[in-house]
Amino acid sequence: MKEIETQKQYITKVKQLNEDKKNKYTILTMGCQLNENDSEKLCGMLEQMGYEKTENQEEADIALFNTCCVRENAEDKLFGKLGELKKLKEKKGIIIAIGGCMMQEKHITDKIKQSYPFVDILFGTHTLHKFPEDLYKALQEKRKIEDIIDIDGEIHEGLPIKRNSKIKASVTIMNGCNNFCSYCIVPYVRGRERSREPKEIIKEVEELAKQGYKEITLLGQNVNSYLRVEREKQIPFEEYQGVHSFATLLQAINKIDGIQRIRFVSPHPKDFTDDVIQAIASCDKVCKLVHLPLQSGNTKVLKEMNRKYTKEQYLNLVEKMKNKIPNLTLSTDIIVGFPGETDEEFEDTLDVVRKVNFEQVYMFIYSRRVGTPGDKMQNQIPEEQKHKRFDQLKALVESQIGQNNQKYLGTKQKVLVEGESKNNKTLLTGRTDSNKVVVFEGDKESIGQIVELEIVSEHMWYLKGEK
Ligand code: SAH
Ligand code: SF4
Ligand code: F3S
Repeated sequence: MKEIETQKQYITKVKQLNEDKKNKYTILTMGCQLNENDSEKLCGMLEQMGYEKTENQEEADIALFNTCCVRENAEDKLFGKLGELKKLKEKKGIIIAIGGCMMQEKHITDKIKQSYPFVDILFGTHTLHKFPEDLYKALQEKRKIEDIIDIDGEIHEGLPIKRNSKIKASVTIMNGCNNFCSYCIVPYVRGRERSREPKEIIKEVEELAKQGYKEITLLGQNVNSYLRVEREKQIPFEEYQGVHSFATLLQAINKIDGIQRIRFVSPHPKDFTDDVIQAIASCDKVCKLVHLPLQSGNTKVLKEMNRKYTKEQYLNLVEKMKNKIPNLTLSTDIIVGFPGETDEEFEDTLDVVRKVNFEQVYMFIYSRRVGTPGDKMQNQIPEEQKHKRFDQLKALVESQIGQNNQKYLGTKQKVLVEGESKNNKTLLTGRTDSNKVVVFEGDKESIGQIVELEIVSEHMWYLKGEK
């Protein structure tokens, strides 16, 4: 708490420094929803310091990047952008700040310091809350700031936040990851699992409900192990409204008036205990779309990936969930081309996809990450092989989505209306419980409400509805 008070003082100091100048900032966020939520906090801090958001880089006084390093392409994107910003830096001396997961990788910060020495502030995932202090020092003392630590940061409550939507809100329930899947960089850049206090989460959701938010997404790298480390290692936490696990958290949030939908990402199949399945089934507000990352359908590859389940265990879990949760739909993440994956092993992935019939599949080509066990494996798969498998999986997934869409035709769906459609301002857009986009003609009054629509046509990535 004390730390946040200190930062609030820095917020005031920066605001005074800027006086009444209408300073502007741009922010580019890469990566997952956790990063999006962190960026909402950065925006909250910046706006309290007197900065206004702009989408136009040319008029910005601060350019901020919140980076991801889960796959290689994010690096190319950052370095490309920094090249562009160099000119702006020379022209009008803007402040350039880079934060997030990539900053926890030493080879990246070394490269920035060497090749892009004009960058002003580097901060990591454990020091995000200190952004006001870092910015103040960069402005006042006109020096380069590097604020990166490699020890698990505490969870700081009470940061200002500027949310992207007035209807749907993300709530981070835990930081870090203890799983060390062998391909994945996240545990190295986000540290170990730490859960927020139940009371803080419940209070945040109650406040969101009061502000009129309808949908809450609970975030963490492994949400269904919420408070597990604390319970196992007897790290003290305060039980609040009966919350001592992920299942009890779902139950408590389900009782909050005003909130109409609850989603969560990502759970891990190995932690999908019966109480969680029961809570999803019994809580009416919990959406029946569950994201259940598969990664691979082959038991040997799963073992190499350190996923801690077999093909059969995954399929059995899906069966059990389908039996216990009426109208369940599933989405997943899959990696193709993990080191050593053979054509036959890849067939198992296709087999699971055929059997489970996912509503949505997020597909990734394996990307070597420095410092992970996967990177040291000798049997890396050639790029063209990975791409071939990716295309094969994509074709299967798209044919399944096409078929699944047919099932919606003629049905009535409850749709949470989010706003005007981006492509056609005369239409509104919203999402079903199963997270399908539905566009329809309607009046703007229904934005923020759940409306019932009949699905009249399907178009691969969206459905068309009518009142
Ligand atoms: N904690 C979450 C997801 C974290 S990252 C989970 O366990 O599901 C999101 C997704 O990126 C992962 O599910 C995985 O499919 C993918 N991913 C992670 N590391 C990757 C890598 N090195 N190469 C390609 N995809 C990767
Ligand atoms: Fe990465 Fe695995 Fe942790 Fe997900 S569970 S963040 S894939 S190590
Ligand atoms: Fe990327 Fe960090 Fe999220 S590496 S996926 S932004 S936790």
